[in-house]
Amino acid sequence: MTPSLDLENQVYIDRLCRLLEEDLDFHDQDSGYASHNIHSFPAKFPPQLPRKFIQALTLPGETVLDPMMGSGTTVLEAFLLGRRGIGFDIDPLAVMLAKAKVSPISHHDAVIWSREIISNARESFFSQKRVLYNEIDRMWDEETREFVDYWFSREVQLALTALVVEINRINDENLRNFFNVILSSIIITKSGGVSLALDLAHTRPHRVDRAIDWNGCPLEMDTSKRSERRKLSKKIRSPFEEFEKKCMQSLKNMSENGLNSDQLSMRCLPNWENARMQPDISMCNAKSLLLNDECVDIIITSPPYASHAIDYMRAHKFSLVWLGYAIRELSERRKRYIGGDALEGHGFESLPGYTSSIIDSLARRDPRKSLVLRRYYSEMKAILREMFRVLKKGRVAIVVVGESKLRGQDVEIDVCLSEIGESLGFFVPRIGVRRLDRNRRMMPVGNQVDMKSQIQRRMHKEFVIGFYKPPID
Ligand SMILES: C[S@@+](CC[C@H](N)C(=O)[O-])C[C@H]1O[C@@H](n2cnc3c(N)ncnc32)[C@H](O)[C@@H]1O
Repeated sequence: MTPSLDLENQVYIDRLCRLLEEDLDFHDQDSGYASHNIHSFPAKFPPQLPRKFIQALTLPGETVLDPMMGSGTTVLEAFLLGRRGIGFDIDPLAVMLAKAKVSPISHHDAVIWSREIISNARESFFSQKRVLYNEIDRMWDEETREFVDYWFSREVQLALTALVVEINRINDENLRNFFNVILSSIIITKSGGVSLALDLAHTRPHRVDRAIDWNGCPLEMDTSKRSERRKLSKKIRSPFEEFEKKCMQSLKNMSENGLNSDQLSMRCLPNWENARMQPDISMCNAKSLLLNDECVDIIITSPPYASHAIDYMRAHKFSLVWLGYAIRELSERRKRYIGGDALEGHGFESLPGYTSSIIDSLARRDPRKSLVLRRYYSEMKAILREMFRVLKKGRVAIVVVGESKLRGQDVEIDVCLSEIGESLGFFVPRIGVRRLDRNRRMMPVGNQVDMKSQIQRRMHKEFVIGFYKPPID
């Protein structure tokens, strides 16, 4: 139902509707400025998307929240535009990555440290293998060790351990975080990278059957689990060279966009308009936000897809084991991600009529999948309720969701989420649509690995839903 609004609020809604009708594809635009491309991340926003809404619907100094921030695109844009960003996620890699993106570091110190890390790590790789083996024995429990042995060659394990030891010597938290992200970025890549996996950036790791190392020597592979379907091969890159290359690329981009603290302290940035406010980034479940009521001026977020269509932890654990996490702990954490398949321990919310009918119709095809969908919509209801609570009256939450099919049925995510939002008090004046750029978006490389990838078939467009919180209850 349309709320009755005074002129100021009507102007706000009209502006929101216009923005949702405009081009939201941003296909030909550069999305790699500032620190946006420091690390790959599946289903991340083009930065122009949050930028558009932040610029048009907030003023400098106002508060921008992304409760499922992923790689931190919204929070970085808020920071660049002089707004106060708040970002939450339950994924440790996302939190580390978002922090690194918005923490200005001294370019000068980073260059010095990167040289030292690489030269010391090379030195121990060549002359202190025993010490590194001891470190490897100390680092992991049996299960995590098995995982690492399966996915990383012996030489790469030694090289990464040497880099980790050197990074851990850094006292400055921002610099250490930056280098940890660089380390992770050489592991989680599309097809290159230093592990024995292909397609990690799409969260669909496939272990190669043949590999040669950076010196051109074939690696001895455990072929007991070799797939008969296809033979995948890979040239493993040198962790030292990759690390150096990524460091230099990222520092250059950050410097050009004012994320260089040497420049910041001298205030010599071009177009220095607003004081930049350091964003608050922390680990938090979006179902229970660590925020007071009505303290946020805009929310811009994109939740995960239903039914683990993108399984973040499946790829992120490849880096997180190098940062001290155990596989068991990560598997437990994965169960708390929105859109998971597990049902045990997940209660359901009461859902409105049309949404319930979509779930019931899926139940006729696949009863278990329909419970997975019920879990998803229940969790989204809890999250929308929290968003409603923390958002100021007369302001909007922009939620970007991909179209989704389960067992061939369109689960009408745009209609259902709008219905759920309206049952909580939101008003949804318009839903924008954006077409995905299949050349640029982080999609599975279907022709190379899995032609029938579910996610490939599911995602052609995204809905941009404007949930407006009316000024009166
Ligand atoms: C589609 S991604 C967000 C991508 C982001 N817009 C970007 O530009 O990088 C969804 C994120 O939701 C996070 N997530 C999943 N369940 C969550 C929960 N219960 N609370 C907070 N974040 C969660 C995932 O870890 C993932 O990083």
